[in-house]
Amino acid sequence: MTNFEIVSREDFSDVTYLLEIRHPMMAKAAKPGQFVIVMLNEQGERIPLTIADFDREKGTITLVIQAVGKTTRQMQHECLVGTSLYALVGPMGVPSPISHAKKVLCVGGGLGVAPIFPQARGHKENGAYVIGVVGFRNKDLVFWDEKFRACCDELIICTDDGSLGIKGLVTAGILQAIEKHPDIDEVVAIGPPIMMKGCADTTRPFKIKTMVSLNPLMVDGTGMCGGCRVKIGDQVKFACVDGPDFDGHQVDFDDLMLRLRRYTKKERKALDHWENKCRLKKDVEVSIESANLG
Ligand code: FAD
Ligand code: FES
Ligand code: MG
Repeated sequence: MTNFEIVSREDFSDVTYLLEIRHPMMAKAAKPGQFVIVMLNEQGERIPLTIADFDREKGTITLVIQAVGKTTRQMQHECLVGTSLYALVGPMGVPSPISHAKKVLCVGGGLGVAPIFPQARGHKENGAYVIGVVGFRNKDLVFWDEKFRACCDELIICTDDGSLGIKGLVTAGILQAIEKHPDIDEVVAIGPPIMMKGCADTTRPFKIKTMVSLNPLMVDGTGMCGGCRVKIGDQVKFACVDGPDFDGHQVDFDDLMLRLRRYTKKERKALDHWENKCRLKKDVEVSIESANLG
């Protein structure tokens, strides 16, 4: 048995995959809302990923990852069952404050669907009436619906193309839930910044407390580099140590989105470089194979 061994893997779609990793101490310590910093190999960059689930008895944590760039694609390629991650640090961040709200709406879209799960379960364990709203592009990309149904009193699925549930964005699901339950005490939303902005804008007129989990660029995850600076009202906070959860009605989402685009050119270059290397490796393997056959 090696450290940080991948004990199971599930591919939900071409871009979304789940890794279950052995780490008994992390599984014991993890709380909803926390994240880890992962390094695939010694030369690899550090990337933050939310602990989407943990199993204290098995001693494992679960990450659900969207392959969006070089590191997440390389992990998709190389993180097979039986292999290990080079480094896994955490749990990091302030655990999500699981309040004593009586009725909670948990909203997840895109890469936020998995991270909203431990929050929904946490609220359910606290005795709340939990309504889940999860959003996907189409029905083929839906995952964990059974897991959500097990901890939600109601589940609203939204798809962009209407192939399952409500046709439209998660904000349509939020409005439907608020119409049926005008007594919702709290909304928790996780997903891409533009989605969380939309959720906060939707709940603002109803004055419902809305917590979001921010995903700025992170490097060390310990409050030292300043990379994860976010503007919350008139204050500057570091999402890795002060968050990642904040009051969505106070977040400057435009600043967050601008900062997330700072290294787009370098990220593109890193991805192209890695893809070229993969292509060359494949070509060499094919020519060796045909030489051997010949
Ligand atoms: P790149 O091409 O390098 O980057 C693609 C985009 O990802 C960038 O434009 C930028 O917006 C973002 N990004 C790049 N580097 C970082 C970084 N070091 N930190 C944060 N964002 C970055 N993704 C998941 O799929 N599942 C999760 O559970 C998850 N949880 C997260 C929790 C937190 C607290 C944060 C801050 C981010 C989380 N992310 C999660 C986002 C994930 O870290 C990025 O998608 C990943 O770092 C992209 O790396 P890349 O090399 O594949 O892509
Ligand atoms: Fe460096 Fe937060 S990631 S300060
Ligand atoms: Mg990267």
